[in-house]
Amino acid sequence: MSKQFDVVVIGGGPGGYIAAIRAAQLGFSTACIDAWTNEKGGPAPGGTCTNVGCIPSKALLQSSEHFEHAGHAFADHGIQVGELNIDVAKMLGRKNTIVKQNNDGIIYLFKKNKVSFFHGLGSFVKADAAGYEIKVAGKVEETITGKHIIVATGSNARALPGTPFDEQIVLSNEGALNITEVPKKLGVIGAGVIGLEMGSVWRRLGADVTVLEALPTFLGAVDEQIAKEAHKLFVKQGLSINLGVKIGEIANSGKDVSVAYTDDKGVEHKAVFDKLIISIGRTPNTNGLNAEAVGLALDERGFVAVDGDCKTNLPNVWAVGDVVRGPMLAHKAEEEGVAVAERIAGQHGHVNFNTIPWVIYTSPEIAWVGRTEQQLKADGVAYKAGTFPFMANGRARALGDTSGMVKFLADASTDEILGVHIVGPMASELISEAVVAMEFRASSEDIARICHAHPSLSEATKEAALAVDKRSLNF
Ligand code: FAD
Ligand code: NAI
Repeated sequence: MSKQFDVVVIGGGPGGYIAAIRAAQLGFSTACIDAWTNEKGGPAPGGTCTNVGCIPSKALLQSSEHFEHAGHAFADHGIQVGELNIDVAKMLGRKNTIVKQNNDGIIYLFKKNKVSFFHGLGSFVKADAAGYEIKVAGKVEETITGKHIIVATGSNARALPGTPFDEQIVLSNEGALNITEVPKKLGVIGAGVIGLEMGSVWRRLGADVTVLEALPTFLGAVDEQIAKEAHKLFVKQGLSINLGVKIGEIANSGKDVSVAYTDDKGVEHKAVFDKLIISIGRTPNTNGLNAEAVGLALDERGFVAVDGDCKTNLPNVWAVGDVVRGPMLAHKAEEEGVAVAERIAGQHGHVNFNTIPWVIYTSPEIAWVGRTEQQLKADGVAYKAGTFPFMANGRARALGDTSGMVKFLADASTDEILGVHIVGPMASELISEAVVAMEFRASSEDIARICHAHPSLSEATKEAALAVDKRSLNF
């Protein structure tokens, strides 16, 4: 007899493990199945985010930022350091420890919340009156049954046709987080979030980094003014960013890799790199699910097809996170996971897609919420804009990081905040104030009238709100 659960979650990334915890909190008997395996063959729940995404990338960004500061920024403070060296093995070891702490933390949370965890690949077997039968192929094979199923199987890196990842020379995000010595020449195809974050890590550690991007505009989804400022700063830091390129033949010799490409003027080039990161987007993981067995519908791009409430075409089968439409972000996956568990309980789970923040953890960081200036123009919305540069912020000067600005966009007649865009120090933290403000449908005047601590970077947010009505006090 297969074990019976009210809710079975397939996938233990941020969408799945959070959905499982919330379902258990709501009183459902809950199981979570996850296939990720650590180097010892044991379970490593947490998905892409914990194992090869958000967490390890931020660990390496932090290490490389310390290295860069020790090399360039400390001298201004009167701090003298000797010759700098990076022990890459130690840096990777620190990153791996942080990943393991997160894996262990999730196993602890499952125990605490009485979620039954199954390590293995989950796939649909059949549907009957008891619910959906799911096979778990792990060290042992077993079947469990769930009245409700939440599919949260995530995504993986998209390869360029004809150029498989060997994770030694041609790298996806997985290999990019495990480079064992600083490459002399690093190529990056795709100037998106991963390309810029990973390119930044290895540039700071001394690699000569060339980024090759197909689109003619830099960070097309970002507010144009912010993207322009970021582009200027990244180029100044030494990232070679080539826009509008067409990638030709890629030849991996096993020692290095050559990339033929045509630049935006039609000139042909051939570049040879020690390592090549390919970061051109991600594809949903649906292969192992045996979706056909129960007739689970996918959309034309291979994502599990869902409605606005994450309902699939099958009764009591839901899907959340990277495997469905929408931004591929850990916090979006989590919000959907919570909302689905609450909907199963008959509550009104809710995800506001208009207030999902985006952050790119480069230095300076880029963060935004809501619409960009170009989107407002395209939508024909009358708006007012206010900006404030960190150069005029006392805390930023004390930090020694005055790059970038905060930008507010507000409705021209109601003053409701429509978008906030930041490039600058700690943008990832500063954006939360804007998210809260937009969630409560605040006006720029509301932010402008709130007392902000001095000296703090958040004063730049207040000043940008003041600038909407041209009454900045410090600029
Ligand atoms: P995943 O995290 O991919 O988890 C899915 C899990 O399901 C995996 O463990 C997988 O092994 C398992 N699985 C798949 N199929 C099966 C099956 N049939 N049976 C059992 N288990 C299965 N997002 C942010 O918000 N902030 C960041 O800073 C950030 N940084 C990132 C950096 C990198 C390098 C990358 C690649 C991504 C980053 N992301 C970031 C994106 C973030 O990782 C994803 O949006 C998030 O992990 C999606 O969560 P998920 O639960 O939908 O899927
Ligand atoms: P991306 O969608 O951010 O960027 C891909 C880039 O590659 C685009 O600029 C695209 O124009 C370009 N591209 C596509 N095909 C190309 C080709 N043939 N030649 C050259 N350029 C090409 O995807 P990325 O960087 O792979 O990241 C995937 C997702 O992971 C992100 O969209 C994001 O959702 C998530 N992520 C989030 C992070 C964060 O929140 N800080 C960090 C890293 C990833």
